[in-house]
Amino acid sequence: MEIVSTAEALREHLSDWRQDGEHIALVPTMGNLHEGHLSLVKAAREHAERVVVSIFVNPTQFAEGEDLEEYPRTLERDQRQLNRANTDLVFVPDVDTMYPFGIDNATSVTVPTLTDDLCGTFRPGHFDGVTTIVTRLFGLVQPDVAVFGQKDYQQQVVIRRMVADLSLPVEIVIVPTVREDDGLARSSRNQYLSEDERASAPVLYAVLEEVGKEIRDGRRDFAALESTALAKLAEAGFETEYVNIRNASDLSEPDRESGELVVLGSAWLGKARLIDNLIVEI
Ligand code: PAJ
Repeated sequence: MEIVSTAEALREHLSDWRQDGEHIALVPTMGNLHEGHLSLVKAAREHAERVVVSIFVNPTQFAEGEDLEEYPRTLERDQRQLNRANTDLVFVPDVDTMYPFGIDNATSVTVPTLTDDLCGTFRPGHFDGVTTIVTRLFGLVQPDVAVFGQKDYQQQVVIRRMVADLSLPVEIVIVPTVREDDGLARSSRNQYLSEDERASAPVLYAVLEEVGKEIRDGRRDFAALESTALAKLAEAGFETEYVNIRNASDLSEPDRESGELVVLGSAWLGKARLIDNLIVEI
């Protein structure tokens, strides 16, 4: 496994591989890797001969007052895990490599409307940071395939929309959410939880599952289901942001004709903002 931090060193490896006719899969991450990230690496392996993992805590997707400074950085441990997971290349750029003209002068990519909703309501500008950095990574790596997690449901919808809208020549692969035994979605931010909060954290997914069951049982009063779910989360000690039932394909509001739905939730427990989602086939 090679570790590179500059665009030039990256290009050298990539051009050798391309000359040999090998396909390249990219797994973008912010590091502090866990089983969720590693399942993306595994999926990447199944789609291409070469796997590149990027590790970059992207400042532009953190709003003022968010956890950019505290975000856990564990590069050595990440590298050991990636080595074991059979990664070919780890790209660990610095801010100047990703934003060569400076953050304030950076060309920005925005997917409108979709990003004003759900997490976008509570994290203004967040998705602009994500689409901007992902476009830059696509430009640098020019992957055939890029792998993202279902865990960040809105993020993957936004990225797929951007790729379709800009006709970017990359196939997007989505990997199911990896969970702890008690159902909590694996996340780098789970380590912000105290012991008591960690014990309550699985309630988020449990409540989404209850909503899913009600829908499968025939309930279509979505607004009522959403407010019951919010009340249950509040009772369990969460400070809730949203629980919403949406069409899975594009996050539009569902109606009685909808086929595949997604239940999405976001809530704070102490210092940790937890998000999760559940797909419901009807
Ligand atoms: P990060 O939070 O590090 O996540 C990197 C990738 O891992 C994302 O595609 C995310 O959906 C996926 N992932 C996280 N937890 C997961 C889990 N429990 N199961 C499966 N996949 C999981 O998402 C980002 O970084 C950034 O926004 C990024 C796309 C890298 C742009 O900066």
